[in-house]
Amino acid sequence: MKTIIRGGTLISASDECKADILIDDEKIVRIGINLSTKGIDQIVDAHEKLILPGGIDVHTHFDLPMFNTVSSDDHYTGHKAAAFGGTTTVLDFVPQTGNDLKNDISDWLKKSEPKAAIDYGFHMNISIFNSEVAEQIPSLIDIGVTSLKVFTAYNSTLRLQDADIFKVMRIAKKHGFLTMLHAENGDIIEILVQEALAAGYTAPEWHAHTRPAWGAVEAVSRGISLSAHTDAPLYIVHMNAGGEVDQLAYGRDLGIPVMGETCPQYLFFTVENLKQADGAKWICSPPMRFDEDNERLWQGIMNGTIQVLGTDHCPFFFDGTQPILYEGKEVMIPGKELGKDDFTKIPNGLPGVGDRLPIFWTEGVVKGRITPHQFVALTSTNPAKIFGLYPQKGVIQPGSDADLVIWDPNLKLTYGREWSHQRTDYNLYEGWELEGFPVKVFLRGNCLVDGRKWLGKAGNGKFMRRKPFNRVI
Ligand code: URP
Ligand code: ZN
Ligand code: ZN
Repeated sequence: MKTIIRGGTLISASDECKADILIDDEKIVRIGINLSTKGIDQIVDAHEKLILPGGIDVHTHFDLPMFNTVSSDDHYTGHKAAAFGGTTTVLDFVPQTGNDLKNDISDWLKKSEPKAAIDYGFHMNISIFNSEVAEQIPSLIDIGVTSLKVFTAYNSTLRLQDADIFKVMRIAKKHGFLTMLHAENGDIIEILVQEALAAGYTAPEWHAHTRPAWGAVEAVSRGISLSAHTDAPLYIVHMNAGGEVDQLAYGRDLGIPVMGETCPQYLFFTVENLKQADGAKWICSPPMRFDEDNERLWQGIMNGTIQVLGTDHCPFFFDGTQPILYEGKEVMIPGKELGKDDFTKIPNGLPGVGDRLPIFWTEGVVKGRITPHQFVALTSTNPAKIFGLYPQKGVIQPGSDADLVIWDPNLKLTYGREWSHQRTDYNLYEGWELEGFPVKVFLRGNCLVDGRKWLGKAGNGKFMRRKPFNRVI
Protein backbone atom coordinates (compact mmCIF):
# COMPACT_ATOMS: atom_id res chain seq x y z
CA MET A 1 0.00 0.00 0.00
CA LYS A 2 1.43 3.36 -1.07
CA THR A 3 0.20 6.61 0.47
CA ILE A 4 1.11 10.24 -0.09
CA ILE A 5 0.44 12.79 2.61
CA ARG A 6 0.22 15.97 0.58
CA GLY A 7 1.10 19.56 1.42
CA GLY A 8 1.55 19.53 5.18
CA THR A 9 4.23 21.38 7.16
CA LEU A 10 6.63 18.87 8.67
CA ILE A 11 7.84 19.78 12.14
CA SER A 12 11.03 18.26 13.49
CA ALA A 13 12.94 18.88 16.70
CA SER A 14 14.95 21.57 14.90
CA ASP A 15 13.35 22.54 11.55
CA GLU A 16 10.22 22.76 9.51
CA CYS A 17 9.40 22.47 5.82
CA LYS A 18 6.36 22.15 3.60
CA ALA A 19 6.55 18.83 1.74
CA ASP A 20 4.80 15.62 0.70
CA ILE A 21 5.53 12.33 2.44
CA LEU A 22 5.52 9.05 0.52
CA ILE A 23 4.72 6.01 2.64
CA ASP A 24 5.26 2.50 1.31
CA ASP A 25 3.66 -0.09 3.55
CA GLU A 26 4.95 0.74 7.08
CA LYS A 27 7.83 3.08 6.26
CA ILE A 28 8.43 6.61 5.08
CA VAL A 29 10.30 6.23 1.78
CA ARG A 30 10.51 9.77 0.38
CA ILE A 31 9.98 13.37 1.35
CA GLY A 32 9.75 16.00 -1.41
CA ILE A 33 7.79 18.68 -3.21
CA ASN A 34 4.93 17.63 -5.52
CA LEU A 35 5.70 13.90 -5.38
CA SER A 36 4.28 11.98 -8.33
CA THR A 37 0.99 10.17 -7.72
CA LYS A 38 1.79 7.36 -10.20
CA GLY A 39 1.12 3.98 -8.56
CA ILE A 40 -0.20 5.60 -5.38
CA ASP A 41 -3.17 3.96 -3.63
CA GLN A 42 -4.16 6.80 -1.36
CA ILE A 43 -3.63 10.56 -1.12
CA VAL A 44 -4.21 12.29 2.21
CA ASP A 45 -4.61 16.05 2.10
CA ALA A 46 -2.67 17.89 4.82
CA HIS A 47 -2.72 21.48 3.52
CA GLU A 48 -2.92 24.02 6.37
CA LYS A 49 -1.95 21.22 8.77
CA LEU A 50 1.24 20.33 10.61
CA ILE A 51 2.80 16.86 10.50
CA LEU A 52 4.45 15.71 13.70
CA PRO A 53 6.27 12.45 14.43
CA GLY A 54 4.00 10.18 16.49
CA GLY A 55 4.21 10.96 20.19
CA ILE A 56 6.22 8.62 22.45
CA ASP A 57 5.10 8.34 26.06
CA VAL A 58 7.84 6.55 27.99
CA HIS A 59 5.94 6.38 31.29
CA THR A 60 2.70 4.38 31.47
CA HIS A 61 1.16 1.85 33.87
CA PHE A 62 -1.54 -0.14 32.10
CA ASP A 63 -3.45 -2.88 33.92
CA LEU A 64 -1.27 -2.37 37.00
CA PRO A 65 -2.43 -4.11 40.19
CA MET A 66 -2.46 -1.70 43.15
CA PHE A 67 -4.21 -1.58 46.54
CA ASN A 68 -6.70 -4.39 45.78
CA THR A 69 -7.63 -2.96 42.41
CA VAL A 70 -6.01 -2.35 39.06
CA SER A 71 -5.29 0.73 36.94
CA SER A 72 -8.39 1.20 34.83
CA ASP A 73 -6.80 1.41 31.37
CA ASP A 74 -5.45 -1.84 30.01
CA HIS A 75 -3.12 -2.32 27.05
CA TYR A 76 -6.02 -1.81 24.63
CA THR A 77 -8.00 1.04 26.18
CA GLY A 78 -4.83 2.91 27.16
CA HIS A 79 -3.33 2.49 23.69
CA LYS A 80 -6.54 3.73 22.10
CA ALA A 81 -6.57 6.82 24.36
CA ALA A 82 -2.90 7.42 23.55
CA ALA A 83 -3.60 7.28 19.81
CA PHE A 84 -6.51 9.72 20.03
CA GLY A 85 -4.09 12.14 21.68
CA GLY A 86 -1.40 11.68 18.99
CA THR A 87 0.83 9.13 20.78
CA THR A 88 1.82 6.05 18.78
CA THR A 89 4.41 4.40 21.07
CA VAL A 90 4.29 3.78 24.81
CA LEU A 91 6.76 2.27 27.28
CA ASP A 92 5.15 0.47 30.20
CA PHE A 93 6.70 -0.74 33.49
CA VAL A 94 6.90 -4.45 34.31
CA PRO A 95 6.51 -5.10 38.05
CA GLN A 96 9.06 -7.49 39.55
CA THR A 97 7.41 -10.39 41.43
CA GLY A 98 10.46 -12.49 42.34
CA ASN A 99 13.89 -13.48 41.08
CA ASP A 100 12.84 -14.45 37.56
CA LEU A 101 12.81 -11.21 35.58
CA LYS A 102 12.31 -12.87 32.21
CA ASN A 103 9.25 -14.61 33.55
CA ASP A 104 7.79 -11.28 34.72
CA ILE A 105 8.45 -9.80 31.28
CA SER A 106 6.92 -12.76 29.53
CA ASP A 107 3.79 -12.51 31.73
CA TRP A 108 3.49 -8.79 30.94
CA LEU A 109 3.90 -9.57 27.25
CA LYS A 110 1.14 -12.20 27.44
CA LYS A 111 -1.19 -9.56 28.88
CA SER A 112 -0.27 -6.83 26.43
CA GLU A 113 0.33 -8.60 23.10
CA PRO A 114 -3.28 -9.49 22.24
CA LYS A 115 -4.50 -6.04 23.32
CA ALA A 116 -1.83 -3.71 21.97
CA ALA A 117 -3.17 -1.21 19.45
CA ILE A 118 -0.03 0.96 19.18
CA ASP A 119 3.66 0.09 19.41
CA TYR A 120 5.02 -0.52 22.88
CA GLY A 121 8.02 -1.56 24.90
CA PHE A 122 8.88 -2.27 28.53
CA HIS A 123 11.02 -1.05 31.38
CA MET A 124 11.84 -3.54 34.15
CA ASN A 125 11.25 -2.50 37.78
CA ILE A 126 14.04 -3.71 40.05
CA SER A 127 12.44 -3.80 43.49
CA ILE A 128 14.06 -6.99 44.79
CA PHE A 129 17.83 -7.24 44.38
CA ASN A 130 20.06 -10.23 45.13
CA SER A 131 22.77 -12.24 43.37
CA GLU A 132 20.28 -14.21 41.27
CA VAL A 133 18.66 -11.00 40.01
CA ALA A 134 22.08 -9.43 39.43
CA GLU A 135 23.04 -12.38 37.26
CA GLN A 136 19.86 -12.17 35.21
CA ILE A 137 19.73 -8.44 34.50
CA PRO A 138 22.25 -8.47 31.58
CA SER A 139 20.13 -10.96 29.61
CA LEU A 140 17.31 -8.40 29.33
CA ILE A 141 19.37 -6.46 26.78
CA ASP A 142 18.91 -9.39 24.35
CA ILE A 143 15.13 -9.18 24.59
CA GLY A 144 15.10 -5.42 24.08
CA VAL A 145 14.23 -4.35 27.62
CA THR A 146 17.06 -1.86 28.09
CA SER A 147 15.92 0.29 31.02
CA LEU A 148 15.54 -0.48 34.74
CA LYS A 149 13.48 1.47 37.28
CA VAL A 150 14.59 1.73 40.89
CA PHE A 151 12.85 3.41 43.84
CA THR A 152 14.07 5.29 46.91
CA ALA A 153 10.51 5.24 48.33
CA TYR A 154 7.66 2.77 49.01
CA ASN A 155 9.71 1.32 51.90
CA SER A 156 8.03 -2.01 52.44
CA THR A 157 7.34 -2.83 48.80
CA LEU A 158 9.40 -1.33 45.97
CA ARG A 159 12.33 0.46 47.61
CA LEU A 160 15.95 -0.57 47.16
CA GLN A 161 18.66 0.53 49.58
CA ASP A 162 21.33 2.85 48.14
CA ALA A 163 23.91 0.04 48.14
CA ASP A 164 21.67 -2.04 45.90
CA ILE A 165 20.88 0.89 43.61
CA PHE A 166 24.64 1.41 43.32
CA LYS A 167 25.10 -2.25 42.35
CA VAL A 168 22.25 -2.09 39.82
CA MET A 169 23.81 0.99 38.25
CA ARG A 170 27.20 -0.70 37.95
CA ILE A 171 25.53 -3.55 36.05
CA ALA A 172 23.61 -0.99 33.99
CA LYS A 173 26.81 0.81 33.04
CA LYS A 174 28.58 -2.41 32.06
CA HIS A 175 25.78 -3.78 29.88
CA GLY A 176 24.15 -0.66 28.38
CA PHE A 177 21.00 -0.13 30.48
CA LEU A 178 19.50 3.20 31.39
CA THR A 179 18.54 3.38 35.08
CA MET A 180 15.37 5.30 35.89
CA LEU A 181 14.91 6.72 39.38
CA HIS A 182 11.75 7.30 41.42
CA ALA A 183 13.19 9.90 43.80
CA GLU A 184 11.55 10.45 47.19
CA ASN A 185 12.77 9.87 50.75
CA GLY A 186 11.03 6.65 51.83
CA ASP A 187 12.12 6.86 55.50
CA ILE A 188 10.77 10.35 56.06
CA ILE A 189 7.52 9.47 54.28
CA GLU A 190 7.01 6.46 56.54
CA ILE A 191 7.39 8.49 59.73
CA LEU A 192 5.19 11.36 58.52
CA VAL A 193 2.43 8.98 57.38
CA GLN A 194 2.37 7.22 60.77
CA GLU A 195 2.24 10.57 62.58
CA ALA A 196 -0.54 11.92 60.35
CA LEU A 197 -2.72 8.84 60.80
CA ALA A 198 -2.11 8.81 64.57
CA ALA A 199 -3.27 12.44 64.68
CA GLY A 200 -6.42 11.56 62.72
CA TYR A 201 -5.41 13.34 59.51
CA THR A 202 -6.92 11.12 56.83
CA ALA A 203 -7.94 13.55 54.03
CA PRO A 204 -6.30 13.41 50.57
CA GLU A 205 -4.19 16.56 51.15
CA TRP A 206 -2.18 14.56 53.73
CA HIS A 207 -0.84 12.46 50.90
CA ALA A 208 1.06 15.57 49.80
CA HIS A 209 1.99 16.78 53.31
CA THR A 210 3.57 13.40 54.13
CA ARG A 211 5.70 13.23 50.98
CA PRO A 212 7.75 16.45 51.25
CA ALA A 213 9.54 18.07 48.34
CA TRP A 214 12.88 18.22 50.16
CA GLY A 215 12.84 14.41 50.30
CA ALA A 216 12.46 14.35 46.52
CA VAL A 217 15.21 16.95 46.01
CA GLU A 218 17.56 15.05 48.31
CA ALA A 219 16.82 11.75 46.53
CA VAL A 220 17.50 13.30 43.11
CA SER A 221 20.82 14.59 44.42
CA ARG A 222 21.59 11.11 45.82
CA GLY A 223 20.77 9.57 42.44
CA ILE A 224 23.04 12.03 40.66
CA SER A 225 25.86 11.19 43.04
CA LEU A 226 25.38 7.47 42.31
CA SER A 227 25.49 8.29 38.61
CA ALA A 228 28.74 10.22 39.15
CA HIS A 229 30.27 7.34 41.12
CA THR A 230 29.31 4.68 38.57
CA ASP A 231 29.36 6.80 35.40
CA ALA A 232 26.04 5.09 34.64
CA PRO A 233 23.36 7.16 32.89
CA LEU A 234 20.42 8.09 35.09
CA TYR A 235 16.94 9.31 34.12
CA ILE A 236 14.86 10.95 36.84
CA VAL A 237 11.17 10.10 36.34
CA HIS A 238 8.19 12.30 37.17
CA MET A 239 10.11 15.39 38.35
CA ASN A 240 7.78 17.48 40.46
CA ALA A 241 9.73 20.01 42.56
CA GLY A 242 11.69 23.11 41.61
CA GLY A 243 14.67 21.96 43.66
CA GLU A 244 14.90 18.80 41.56
CA VAL A 245 15.40 20.94 38.47
CA ASP A 246 18.27 22.74 40.24
CA GLN A 247 19.90 19.42 41.14
CA LEU A 248 19.54 18.12 37.59
CA ALA A 249 21.03 21.31 36.13
CA TYR A 250 23.95 21.05 38.57
CA GLY A 251 24.63 17.42 37.63
CA ARG A 252 24.39 18.11 33.90
CA ASP A 253 26.68 21.16 34.21
CA LEU A 254 29.28 18.84 35.76
CA GLY A 255 28.92 16.45 32.81
CA ILE A 256 27.28 13.68 34.83
CA PRO A 257 25.07 11.62 32.49
CA VAL A 258 21.71 12.55 34.05
CA MET A 259 18.45 13.35 32.32
CA GLY A 260 14.96 14.22 33.49
CA GLU A 261 11.29 13.82 32.76
CA THR A 262 8.33 15.74 34.08
CA CYS A 263 4.62 15.15 33.46
CA PRO A 264 1.78 17.59 32.69
CA GLN A 265 0.16 17.27 36.15
CA TYR A 266 3.26 18.79 37.77
CA LEU A 267 3.06 21.83 35.48
CA PHE A 268 -0.51 22.82 36.30
CA PHE A 269 -1.73 21.49 39.64
CA THR A 270 -0.79 22.03 43.29
CA VAL A 271 -1.54 20.72 46.76
CA GLU A 272 -4.58 23.05 46.69
CA ASN A 273 -6.23 20.60 44.27
CA LEU A 274 -5.90 17.84 46.88
CA LYS A 275 -7.78 20.03 49.38
CA GLN A 276 -10.89 20.06 47.18
CA ALA A 277 -13.86 17.75 47.89
CA ASP A 278 -12.73 15.62 44.94
CA GLY A 279 -9.03 15.92 45.91
CA ALA A 280 -8.45 12.16 45.54
CA LYS A 281 -8.49 12.66 41.76
CA TRP A 282 -5.07 14.32 42.07
CA ILE A 283 -3.46 11.65 44.26
CA CYS A 284 -0.30 10.30 42.73
CA SER A 285 3.27 9.78 43.89
CA PRO A 286 5.21 12.00 44.01
CA PRO A 287 2.44 14.47 44.86
CA MET A 288 1.47 17.88 43.51
CA ARG A 289 3.56 20.74 44.93
CA PHE A 290 3.21 24.55 44.74
CA ASP A 291 2.85 27.27 42.08
CA GLU A 292 6.61 28.04 42.27
CA ASP A 293 7.37 24.39 41.49
CA ASN A 294 5.07 24.45 38.44
CA GLU A 295 6.91 27.54 37.24
CA ARG A 296 10.41 26.13 37.80
CA LEU A 297 9.52 22.92 36.00
CA TRP A 298 8.34 25.01 33.05
CA GLN A 299 11.68 26.83 33.16
CA GLY A 300 13.49 23.48 33.16
CA ILE A 301 11.53 22.52 30.06
CA MET A 302 12.16 25.84 28.33
CA ASN A 303 15.92 25.92 29.00
CA GLY A 304 16.55 22.25 28.18
CA THR A 305 17.39 20.98 31.67
CA ILE A 306 14.43 18.58 31.34
CA GLN A 307 14.47 16.43 28.19
CA VAL A 308 11.15 14.54 28.25
CA LEU A 309 7.47 15.09 28.93
CA GLY A 310 5.96 11.74 29.98
CA THR A 311 2.66 11.14 31.77
CA ASP A 312 2.98 8.47 34.47
CA HIS A 313 -0.45 7.45 33.19
CA CYS A 314 -1.89 5.24 35.93
CA PRO A 315 -5.63 5.96 36.04
CA PHE A 316 -8.23 4.88 38.57
CA PHE A 317 -11.93 5.66 38.74
CA PHE A 318 -12.81 8.51 41.11
CA ASP A 319 -15.96 6.59 42.08
CA GLY A 320 -15.47 2.97 41.21
CA THR A 321 -18.91 2.04 42.58
CA GLN A 322 -20.59 3.61 39.52
CA PRO A 323 -20.26 2.12 36.04
CA ILE A 324 -19.21 4.10 32.99
CA LEU A 325 -19.92 3.22 29.38
CA TYR A 326 -16.90 2.12 27.36
CA GLU A 327 -17.39 1.01 23.75
CA GLY A 328 -21.07 0.51 24.53
CA LYS A 329 -20.50 -1.70 27.59
CA GLU A 330 -20.74 -0.89 31.29
CA VAL A 331 -17.39 -0.95 33.09
CA MET A 332 -16.83 -0.51 36.83
CA ILE A 333 -13.40 -0.84 38.48
CA PRO A 334 -12.73 -0.03 42.16
CA GLY A 335 -10.84 3.25 42.42
CA LYS A 336 -10.13 6.24 44.61
CA GLU A 337 -13.16 5.60 46.85
CA LEU A 338 -11.14 2.77 48.43
CA GLY A 339 -9.40 5.47 50.47
CA LYS A 340 -12.35 7.68 51.37
CA ASP A 341 -11.52 7.35 55.10
CA ASP A 342 -7.74 7.02 54.79
CA PHE A 343 -5.51 8.74 52.24
CA THR A 344 -2.99 5.87 52.40
CA LYS A 345 -5.56 3.57 50.80
CA ILE A 346 -6.27 5.79 47.78
CA PRO A 347 -4.73 4.14 44.71
CA ASN A 348 -1.84 6.32 43.51
CA GLY A 349 -2.01 7.55 39.95
CA LEU A 350 -3.72 9.74 37.38
CA PRO A 351 -4.93 9.53 33.80
CA GLY A 352 -2.92 11.44 31.17
CA VAL A 353 -1.71 9.38 28.20
CA GLY A 354 -4.25 10.93 25.82
CA ASP A 355 -4.13 14.40 27.36
CA ARG A 356 -0.38 14.92 27.06
CA LEU A 357 0.04 16.33 23.55
CA PRO A 358 -3.10 18.47 23.25
CA ILE A 359 -2.65 20.04 26.70
CA PHE A 360 1.09 20.64 26.19
CA TRP A 361 0.53 22.19 22.75
CA THR A 362 -1.98 24.75 24.00
CA GLU A 363 -0.18 25.52 27.25
CA GLY A 364 3.31 25.30 25.77
CA VAL A 365 3.27 26.32 22.11
CA VAL A 366 0.12 28.45 21.85
CA LYS A 367 0.95 30.31 25.06
CA GLY A 368 4.47 30.99 23.77
CA ARG A 369 6.47 29.06 26.38
CA ILE A 370 8.06 26.66 23.88
CA THR A 371 8.46 26.38 20.11
CA PRO A 372 6.80 23.63 18.03
CA HIS A 373 10.33 22.15 17.72
CA GLN A 374 10.77 21.92 21.48
CA PHE A 375 7.33 20.32 21.59
CA VAL A 376 8.45 17.61 19.15
CA ALA A 377 11.78 17.14 20.95
CA LEU A 378 10.17 16.70 24.38
CA THR A 379 7.30 14.46 23.32
CA SER A 380 8.85 12.31 20.59
CA THR A 381 12.45 12.81 19.43
CA ASN A 382 14.20 12.95 22.81
CA PRO A 383 12.25 9.97 24.19
CA ALA A 384 13.18 7.98 21.06
CA LYS A 385 16.86 8.88 21.40
CA ILE A 386 17.09 8.27 25.15
CA PHE A 387 15.19 4.98 25.07
CA GLY A 388 16.85 3.30 22.07
CA LEU A 389 14.07 3.77 19.50
CA TYR A 390 15.74 6.36 17.25
CA PRO A 391 15.65 6.69 14.23
CA GLN A 392 12.96 4.04 13.76
CA LYS A 393 10.70 6.28 15.86
CA GLY A 394 10.76 9.95 16.85
CA VAL A 395 11.61 11.48 13.48
CA ILE A 396 10.07 12.01 10.05
CA GLN A 397 12.66 10.83 7.55
CA PRO A 398 13.08 8.14 4.88
CA GLY A 399 13.58 4.75 6.53
CA SER A 400 11.65 5.61 9.69
CA ASP A 401 8.33 4.06 10.67
CA ALA A 402 5.44 6.06 9.25
CA ASP A 403 4.15 7.07 12.70
CA LEU A 404 2.66 10.43 11.89
CA VAL A 405 0.22 12.88 13.40
CA ILE A 406 -1.65 15.32 11.20
CA TRP A 407 -2.15 18.19 13.59
CA ASP A 408 -4.65 20.99 13.05
CA PRO A 409 -3.18 24.03 14.81
CA ASN A 410 -6.41 25.98 14.27
CA LEU A 411 -8.84 23.48 15.76
CA LYS A 412 -10.39 24.93 18.92
CA LEU A 413 -12.34 22.80 21.36
CA THR A 414 -13.46 22.49 24.95
CA TYR A 415 -11.53 19.47 26.21
CA GLY A 416 -12.56 16.74 28.63
CA ARG A 417 -13.54 13.08 28.95
CA GLU A 418 -15.50 13.13 25.75
CA TRP A 419 -12.30 13.84 23.78
CA SER A 420 -9.71 11.92 25.78
CA HIS A 421 -10.98 8.29 25.59
CA GLN A 422 -9.14 7.34 28.80
CA ARG A 423 -11.15 4.67 30.63
CA THR A 424 -11.93 6.56 33.83
CA ASP A 425 -14.86 8.59 35.12
CA TYR A 426 -12.99 11.92 35.15
CA ASN A 427 -10.49 14.05 33.30
CA LEU A 428 -8.18 16.48 35.09
CA TYR A 429 -8.49 18.99 32.23
CA GLU A 430 -12.29 18.95 31.97
CA GLY A 431 -13.50 22.21 30.42
CA TRP A 432 -10.05 23.50 29.37
CA GLU A 433 -10.12 25.50 26.14
CA LEU A 434 -7.62 24.01 23.67
CA GLU A 435 -6.25 25.26 20.38
CA GLY A 436 -4.56 22.61 18.21
CA PHE A 437 -5.45 18.93 18.09
CA PRO A 438 -4.63 15.74 16.15
CA VAL A 439 -7.00 15.11 13.25
CA LYS A 440 -5.41 11.97 11.79
CA VAL A 441 -2.96 9.58 13.44
CA PHE A 442 -0.93 6.96 11.57
CA LEU A 443 0.95 4.01 13.04
CA ARG A 444 3.39 2.41 10.61
CA GLY A 445 1.36 3.78 7.70
CA ASN A 446 -2.03 2.65 9.01
CA CYS A 447 -4.58 5.29 9.96
CA LEU A 448 -5.67 4.63 13.55
CA VAL A 449 -7.60 7.81 14.19
CA ASP A 450 -9.53 9.75 11.58
CA GLY A 451 -11.16 12.76 13.18
CA ARG A 452 -13.27 11.26 15.94
CA LYS A 453 -13.34 7.80 14.34
CA TRP A 454 -11.33 4.90 15.80
CA LEU A 455 -9.86 2.61 13.14
CA GLY A 456 -7.30 0.84 15.34
CA LYS A 457 -7.45 -2.78 16.43
CA ALA A 458 -6.32 -4.79 19.42
CA GLY A 459 -3.30 -6.92 18.51
CA ASN A 460 -1.94 -4.57 15.83
CA GLY A 461 0.64 -2.92 18.11
CA LYS A 462 4.19 -4.31 17.90
CA PHE A 463 6.54 -5.00 20.79
CA MET A 464 9.63 -2.82 20.37
CA ARG A 465 12.96 -4.45 21.13
CA ARG A 466 14.90 -1.39 22.09
CA LYS A 467 18.60 -0.74 21.65
CA PRO A 468 20.97 -0.33 24.61
CA PHE A 469 21.49 3.20 25.93
CA ASN A 470 23.72 5.41 23.85
CA ARG A 471 24.47 8.89 25.10
CA VAL A 472 23.20 11.39 22.55
CA ILE A 473 21.46 13.99 24.71
O1 URP B 1 1.25 7.46 41.65
C1 URP B 1 1.87 6.91 40.75
N1 URP B 1 2.70 7.61 40.06
N2 URP B 1 1.72 5.61 40.47
C2 URP B 1 2.51 4.88 39.58
C3 URP B 1 3.78 4.36 40.18
C4 URP B 1 4.98 5.26 40.07
O2 URP B 1 5.71 5.42 41.05
O3 URP B 1 5.28 5.80 39.01
ZN1 ZN C 1 7.52 6.29 40.18
ZN1 ZN D 1 5.08 5.70 37.19
